[in-house]
Amino acid sequence: MRILVLHGPNLNLLGRREPSIYGSTTLADINSALEQQADAIGIALETFQTNAEHALLERIHNAAADGFDGILINPAAWTHTSVALRDALAACGLPLVEVHLSQPSARESFRHVSLVADLAAGRVEGFGADSYRLGLEGLVAVVRAAADRASE
Ligand code: DQA
Repeated sequence: MRILVLHGPNLNLLGRREPSIYGSTTLADINSALEQQADAIGIALETFQTNAEHALLERIHNAAADGFDGILINPAAWTHTSVALRDALAACGLPLVEVHLSQPSARESFRHVSLVADLAAGRVEGFGADSYRLGLEGLVAVVRAAADRASE
């Protein structure tokens, strides 16, 4: 199984960006914890962060052809604004899980809207860096269940 982990804009600043909201864990810490988790459960994982929306869209367009089975994504601010991101995720057809470090649903009202939530198999928010760990666990279960159904 191959999972693509996508991080949206400003997440490269984790660790020094509003630590009272996002904590002190850096993106490198999060990626290395996900890589260890992937090793432990015997799956492959690739991580990608960008501040350029077109670069994120292109990774999503190519995800299935690149051999990925599922997408774990923190779309960051684009969660609330990007119809283009939503359309790319819908088009790619892969199972996805949406994660957030903070709890957008308990913050400003403009963060209450997620344009991708209804495309996702599940959403994990509010657990800091642990949201990614829990999200990956959920996504792996979803991909395995789909593979089991396909082989029946
Ligand atoms: C975020 C929440 C978003 O509202 C915000 O724009 C982010 C980070 C989170 O992980 O908590 O950049 O996705």
